[in-house]
Amino acid sequence: METGQPSRTAMRAAHGRACHQTDPRRILTDPLAPRILGLDPAGLPPLPDDPLDLYGLRFLAARSRFAEDALAAAVATGTRQLVILGAGLDTFAYRNPHAELRVIEVDHPSTQAWKRRQLTAAGIEIPESVTYAPADLERDPLSTALAKAGLDRTRPAFFLWLGVTAYLTRDAVLTTLRSMADHPAPVRMVFDYYGEAPPTLSPELRAVREAAAEMVAELGEPWLSCFTPEDIAAELHAMKLTTTEDLTGPVLVTRYAEGPVPAADPVNSHVIHAGRMTWKPEATG
Ligand SMILES: C[S@@+](CC[C@H](N)C(=O)[O-])C[C@H]1O[C@@H](n2cnc3c(N)ncnc32)[C@H](O)[C@@H]1O
Repeated sequence: METGQPSRTAMRAAHGRACHQTDPRRILTDPLAPRILGLDPAGLPPLPDDPLDLYGLRFLAARSRFAEDALAAAVATGTRQLVILGAGLDTFAYRNPHAELRVIEVDHPSTQAWKRRQLTAAGIEIPESVTYAPADLERDPLSTALAKAGLDRTRPAFFLWLGVTAYLTRDAVLTTLRSMADHPAPVRMVFDYYGEAPPTLSPELRAVREAAAEMVAELGEPWLSCFTPEDIAAELHAMKLTTTEDLTGPVLVTRYAEGPVPAADPVNSHVIHAGRMTWKPEATG
């Protein structure tokens, strides 16, 4: 992140979700996605012709849909607190269908301030259920930000963390995960990560991956970490978290939309649903 500047990758992700609204294979219905960007829903750019670009938009939609479906299941069993980490221009908190669900949005302070200006400019109402918790996850303890925002550690919580881990160092990713795992009450989380380039990746797709890495680095947000599925599973296990699912991008997109997906995702994106349904043993005293 460039000092004092809002996240430009957050702008790109939001733009992707806005464009996705015109997709005949729509996966995520988000009428606020164009609005928060000040875009006219009737005048959105056409969907990309390039199959990989189209897959990229569908992946953005599918990871949110997956997280929101998992959240709905958690709400059905009593969860009333959601923390969105690195929220960017995610609009869930402003179209939250769960009457009793409180939402804490954590983000880098400059991105969060920009989001609040975008919401005001778009005339999107900020519900009373939303609390903002500015934090730089490379420096600020998540627990302090969440305590200030009023997270109730005696009640279950759901953490939604999409499109962020790649932009943090491995240390910051694991420290953040430990902080989430440290929630004493039952906890669930959905987050994504980028995998290493598989050895089987074709030279063409390797070039696509390198171009994507260069593009985000030029935006001031280089990729700083990636994981293998075994690596992340071991880290979660050590934190006493159980992984329910770890899905690759193409598998996830296929779950929600029929039709072809690229045989390989150059970024090798994965989305994980993990958690602990019990209380932390030491918390029960
Ligand atoms: C690609 S955007 C994803 C935004 C949103 N989750 C989405 O899916 O549209 C990356 C997000 O990570 C946040 N971020 C990057 N570095 C951060 C840091 N050190 N501390 C807190 N947030 C950070 C950015 O502010 C931005 O909101």
